[in-house]
Amino acid sequence: MEPEALRRGLEAAGQGHVLRFWAELGGAGRRALREQLQGLDCGALGAAFRRAGQGGARLGLDTRMEPLPRAVLGSATRDAERLPAWERQGLHQISQSKVAVLLLAGGQGTRLGVSYPKGMYDVGLPSHKTLFQIQAERILKLQQLAEEQHGTECVIPWYIMTSSRTMESTKEFFLEHNYFGLKQENVIIFQQGMLPAMDFDGKILLEEKGKVSMAPDGNGGLYRALGAHGIVEDMERRGIWSIHMYCVDNILVKVADPRFIGFCLQKEAECGAKVVEKTNPMEPVGVVCSVDGTYQVVEYSEISLATAQKRSPDGRLLFNAGNIANHYLTVPFLRDVVNIYEPQLKHHVAQKKIPYVDLSSGQQVKPDKPNGIKMEKFVFDIFPFAKRFVVYEVLREDEFSPLKNADSQNGKDNPTTARHALMSLHHCWVLNAGGHFVDENGTRIPAIPRMTRGRPDAIPADARCNLKDANDLPVQCEISPLVSYGGEGLEKYVENKEFHAPLIIDESGIHERVKNCVDSFSGSQQAQHSL
Ligand code: UD1
Repeated sequence: MEPEALRRGLEAAGQGHVLRFWAELGGAGRRALREQLQGLDCGALGAAFRRAGQGGARLGLDTRMEPLPRAVLGSATRDAERLPAWERQGLHQISQSKVAVLLLAGGQGTRLGVSYPKGMYDVGLPSHKTLFQIQAERILKLQQLAEEQHGTECVIPWYIMTSSRTMESTKEFFLEHNYFGLKQENVIIFQQGMLPAMDFDGKILLEEKGKVSMAPDGNGGLYRALGAHGIVEDMERRGIWSIHMYCVDNILVKVADPRFIGFCLQKEAECGAKVVEKTNPMEPVGVVCSVDGTYQVVEYSEISLATAQKRSPDGRLLFNAGNIANHYLTVPFLRDVVNIYEPQLKHHVAQKKIPYVDLSSGQQVKPDKPNGIKMEKFVFDIFPFAKRFVVYEVLREDEFSPLKNADSQNGKDNPTTARHALMSLHHCWVLNAGGHFVDENGTRIPAIPRMTRGRPDAIPADARCNLKDANDLPVQCEISPLVSYGGEGLEKYVENKEFHAPLIIDESGIHERVKNCVDSFSGSQQAQHSL
């Protein structure tokens, strides 16, 4: 497009100011800016800005919220007797290669404060595995479990959405690590779109004199990206029916959880969400609820404190279905979302401090209070379009420990809490499988069993335990996902044995400080045992 035509188009859309420094740019700078601007649809952007503004209606949303009716709910604890059937159904579908996982990994990790993708983060586990590696190994293990149970080879394709900020490094990381043992053709990495940042009047902000300030278009940018990259067609070609979609930052995520998939299949749902009980009104999680008769998530930024604090007669929070960003979708529903509903999704507006170039002085400014907005679509805004929507409730300590923030004193959702959550869970798995931890004096380290019903064939084992109290450091215990997906199959390693932490169980065996084993599993300090 000629510069004059470009200028006319921008001026017509009220964005002529982005060429304010054109005369100062060299040839390369002009080419780069022109390229960037040609990729923008300023008319559509203005319309989205106006619609998002009318979305001011969302501010009153919380007055229309209703808790979820029992009919849509399933629970990993209340429905314990149904879990085996759900699990069987989920695993069966996995064994038929009809299940895919879809990872949202385009976020910028601003709160965590790293410049690389969050999936590459090492929270400091004994193995130093990154979030990507943990997730990849869970996929591998689940494929193996489904194959063992059904005697057929299967594939769980892994679709990974990145953004321009995370695409290249994510790709390189997977290549460098040989896709963590997965086949490259089954890991499909694609990129979401970006939108310009704007001031409160809808004027595009410049990051540099020749560069528009851009940000990913939110995790709901997924649906456009799926359309742009032909991903639904790829799923259909592979014969996928169920999709488990999740966020990159939850170290406990049960990727392609057979129980969740089986539950959604039995309910014949087009769409589903996993939740944990929200117990603190201030916790930054969205709540799944009903608004004007449709199911949706009211995000933590959109609920008022008064509503968040409401309690039911039993003392629990009234809106306690905390969204852990684990969603279920069928491929036919996803196709309709991409082809029909996506344009109807409104942008949410977040006020941000956005560095910009001052148009009169040409100076770069780092504002100390919000000066503009970023517009984002949210992935869960498709829930109201589902003809059949269900919600599956799980225990937080089993499935949810997100990595959002950097470590700080008394911090939450940081590398330390993620590491501790994983090790506490694995400690419980060892106890459930009949193993014990002892301290330096040989005294067993106590843990409070919450449920002791053991099901050796189950994924995962069902017994639960807690640390003595919340301030205790967890016993250092890490079990490779390649050994156990959800606590199953550990008896042969740990039953009737005593261990000194740290204990690591991986595919090469048990690594620990061994002392005073109860059975013939004798050894000395730092012994290693092959399977
Ligand atoms: C998200 C949920 C919130 C939930 C919480 C649980 C949304 C909109 N909000 O909030 O309801 O309670 O997780 O932890 O889903 N991402 C992209 N592209 C983007 C922006 C984000 O792919 O443009 C990805 C991130 O990489 C991450 C996920 O989306 O995997 C969630 O993003 P994040 O900003 O961490 O969401 P929260 O605000 O914590």
